Amino acid sequence: MATRSQVVAKRGEVAEGTSKKFYFDCGGREVEAFVVNFEGEMHAFINQCRHVPMTMDWVENQFFDENGRFIQCATHGALFEPSTGLCVDGPPAGKSLYRIEVEWNGDALVAQCPTELPT
Ligand code: FES
Repeated sequence: MATRSQVVAKRGEVAEGTSKKFYFDCGGREVEAFVVNFEGEMHAFINQCRHVPMTMDWVENQFFDENGRFIQCATHGALFEPSTGLCVDGPPAGKSLYRIEVEWNGDALVAQCPTELPT
């Protein structure tokens, strides 16, 4: 599968403590993903829990828990570290969200299509 990149946010668009969902065409397959701004750093993951393959947002486009400390799964409340995607509490503890590499190119946040996609 060819690696592809895509601009998913502009600088200043995703404020600290907030998130943005995006859709990514990875080799002809549409992938739903999200980016979070955690303590000023941008991190992106596929929007699929590692417990049951369901989307994570508990309100549309809302991924942080109420304290803004963890990414929280809507279905059973699992908590994930925003900087790594590691589940620290809940049914999939010890597993990590599927990470999407992102980097700034000027004012554009560019995501790389992962080489491995969840089934
Ligand atoms: S589906 Fe996410 S914790 Fe169960």
